[in-house]
Amino acid sequence: MAAEPPPTLQWREASSQVPPALVLLDQTLLPVEEVLRNCTDVETVAEAIESLRVRGAPAIGVAAAYGVALGAWHARGTGAGATTVSAAVARLGRTRPTAVNLFWALDCMQQALDAATGSSDDELYATLVAAAQRIDADDRRLCRLLGEHGAALLPDDATVLTHCNAGSLATAGWGTALGVIYAAVEQGKKVRVFADETRPLLQGARLTAWELQRRGIDVTVICDVAAASVLRDHRIDCVITGADRIAANGDVANKIGTYGVALMARAHDIPFYVAAPTSTVDLELASGDLIPIEERAAHEITEGFGRRTVPTGVNVYNPAFDVTPHHLVSAIITEHGVARMPYDSVLQTWGKAIPAIATGASR
Ligand code: MRU
Repeated sequence: MAAEPPPTLQWREASSQVPPALVLLDQTLLPVEEVLRNCTDVETVAEAIESLRVRGAPAIGVAAAYGVALGAWHARGTGAGATTVSAAVARLGRTRPTAVNLFWALDCMQQALDAATGSSDDELYATLVAAAQRIDADDRRLCRLLGEHGAALLPDDATVLTHCNAGSLATAGWGTALGVIYAAVEQGKKVRVFADETRPLLQGARLTAWELQRRGIDVTVICDVAAASVLRDHRIDCVITGADRIAANGDVANKIGTYGVALMARAHDIPFYVAAPTSTVDLELASGDLIPIEERAAHEITEGFGRRTVPTGVNVYNPAFDVTPHHLVSAIITEHGVARMPYDSVLQTWGKAIPAIATGASR
């Protein structure tokens, strides 16, 4: 593979010169500028998640976990460590509603906080940094594993269509849908990718194309509306997307437009795969109808990249995600393996194995 892109996120320890920081590659500026941003408090992490400087379900969970640790750093010496950290958990939980990985990571951090009752401020801070680092390291490990499981589904010379960005930029550093592709390439398979541009914020065009190109993988960007004819005409072997939340019955919330792609894939008899770690599975929701769908600001559609493209005063509806019903999903790929319909019993088993990482349990 060609050059690795800069890390999506990194933890910088405090030194005598600098406070601790979560260092993020600012994804709002890609592909034009590669700028690293230091988030040194809870609010800058929350803003980074809300404004999509860091985005993608696993990545926002990891970022939020480090944000909680930053809350503990600033609480040192105030006599209000636990209260401040709980407030950080609450603030970060109000950033984006759909990706369950965020709430899972915050639950892990809350459990670490609860388990550290009675510790000194410095001990509490160290405990929370260690918990966030476990979430971070675990995401990298699990994405690698699920990538290997998924790679077995690809032929030796594969053409894949993907939607949005579910790569290293959307995770702690490997990727889910793109992690499958990276694993297949590592195994010596030849993979060509068609990337939907992914209106309105162009995560496919800006981010998926950027990271695939950086890794030397053949990528072609198409307008979202070209997907149907590409699926019909270009010998696409399969569609692979990530997920923001998978309900207990296998319904999948992912970037707006995913449902349409799944319908088109079914119409052309092309497999539609979803790749996600089990931290994306929400067993508390029986079906996708119950998944909260984030609605984002109108200006992302009316003047997304600076130029007004909708008349002033026109109504805009901007849901960030949609739900693909499980019957359109050919397989769900997780770190445990590849599941096919019916999904409910296997997801129950896999979902129950989701541990309290923050307290050091391992999967
Ligand atoms: O709004 P975004 O850019 O955070 O949406 C991201 C997606 O929909 C991804 O496909 C999903 O989070 C999976 S990332 C491995």
